[in-house]
Amino acid sequence: MDTVGPMDKILILDFGSQTTQLIGRRIRDLGVYTEIIPGDTALDDAVLSGVAGIILSGSPESVYTAEGAVPDKKVYALGLPLLGICYGLQRMTVDNGGVVESLPKSEYGRKEVTLHDKNSIGNASRKFLAGFPPSFTAWMSHGDTLTRLAPGFREYAVSDTGYPAVVAHETKPWLGLQFHPEVTHTECGLEILAAFVFGVCGCKKSWTMEQYVEEVRTSLAARVGSNPVLLLISGGVDSTVAGALLLKTLKADQVHLMYMDTGLMRKDETKTVQTALEQLGAKHLHIIYCEEEFLGALKGLEEPEAKRKAIGDLFITIQEREVARLGLPDSYFLAQGTLYTDLIESGKGVGKKAHLIKSHHNVGSPLVDAKRKLGRIIEPLDRLYKDEVRRLGRILGIDEEVVRRHPFPGPGLAVRILGEVTKEKCGILREADALYIEELKKRRTPSGERLYDDIWQAFAVLLPIRSVGVAGDARKYGWVLALRAITSADGMTADVYPFPVKDLLEISTRITNTVPDIGRVTYDISSKPPATIEWE
Ligand code: XMP
Repeated sequence: MDTVGPMDKILILDFGSQTTQLIGRRIRDLGVYTEIIPGDTALDDAVLSGVAGIILSGSPESVYTAEGAVPDKKVYALGLPLLGICYGLQRMTVDNGGVVESLPKSEYGRKEVTLHDKNSIGNASRKFLAGFPPSFTAWMSHGDTLTRLAPGFREYAVSDTGYPAVVAHETKPWLGLQFHPEVTHTECGLEILAAFVFGVCGCKKSWTMEQYVEEVRTSLAARVGSNPVLLLISGGVDSTVAGALLLKTLKADQVHLMYMDTGLMRKDETKTVQTALEQLGAKHLHIIYCEEEFLGALKGLEEPEAKRKAIGDLFITIQEREVARLGLPDSYFLAQGTLYTDLIESGKGVGKKAHLIKSHHNVGSPLVDAKRKLGRIIEPLDRLYKDEVRRLGRILGIDEEVVRRHPFPGPGLAVRILGEVTKEKCGILREADALYIEELKKRRTPSGERLYDDIWQAFAVLLPIRSVGVAGDARKYGWVLALRAITSADGMTADVYPFPVKDLLEISTRITNTVPDIGRVTYDISSKPPATIEWE
């Protein structure tokens, strides 16, 4: 769905670097809208609409290998400012008649960069170089180097190993960096990006959440007209924010919200979702209670993928049955809280494909696919990153506790109860998890922040083993609970949260004292990779 109207946009051609996403984030943080597309995408009018400048990203490949993707040659005929970063610079060099060769030893890590020529002739390079201090530390990661610049280019800075670090065309607005300005290890990286975006491309700061809301609301209202919209709600931040956006834009009567209580939710989850949506003015909130069906489908299943598949299949069956039961006219639109990163990860039109480690059932369904084919899907958050969604949630007046909630997997507690899922185990885990989260909200970091807000995701896991302990004078044979807490930027990688031991000890005591079925508590100290965040 094209939700964003005319505004200055920086297009990023993704050649596969790990840091391409970061380029997008940094520039958005500067207040300019960015879009990432695969590096070899044809640059037609639709793609180029509103584009003020193009960045060619880095890549793990070399310009001389078959895997090194090539941009649409038109990129050099558009007259738009270009910034090549690492592979992007090497690509520009080779495509325009220069030479790139392999280095005897890769340049990796922090390098000193010194500007030796600030007397630029070109208008663009003068504005660009204004962003650079005379010397600075930059982050490098490359095995090839420019050994002959393309005609018309000039070198402005070298690294301490003597290789070109900054080059620019003398007359065209084409600029290149051998280092990564998007990485925080590069001093003045943001100033350098700002010099390109504002100085060279002439962008204005037009990417603000307030403006985004206005634009999305205008295009949403025009697209939907008076048709009904059905939003599938999971209870997470994303679908709640999508719901708020619909409710603030359309008539309450038009907006149908459907939520499945699978019985695999956290404690009081359904109530929290209901309250949040009713506060936002929801009139047609369809809560489907289907705990028995889900527990039935999970009976006897122990293997993680088998459990995920059973849940995914039942989700689809119930979704189709309940949507049909609503009896909406065929003209209805289906809405989802898909994020920009979901599109990137599923390889739908932007960026790289992620590899499948676990099947996430909630990315698509036959109903969603059918509606997408008909052009009747609404994904009002499909241009946003997770923290932008949180910001938007605040602007729309969603309760701060809901906005700050940790992510929760679609299959819910079923992937946190190892082995067979039973109603009794769901109850035990729900209680223990709620205590854990309550403690994290009460406890503070040394800087006064709630532990909960310092942690990206925290939850409890019920292990399929019991261990011996004592309660009073009696022998106790209780379940083992694992606590998990991680820090992460996006869930793709994660580090263990370095808990103060005192907090862990007190939380463990409270759990074993309050939930009699739990006899022992452990803390999971595995990062991702090699572990994953969830246990199944
Ligand atoms: P893993 O366990 O793969 O989790 O390291 C990464 C992030 O994704 C969440 N997760 C899911 N989210 N449906 C979802 O919507 C799923 O099936 C699913 N499985 C894992 C997990 O909680 C973590 O935030």
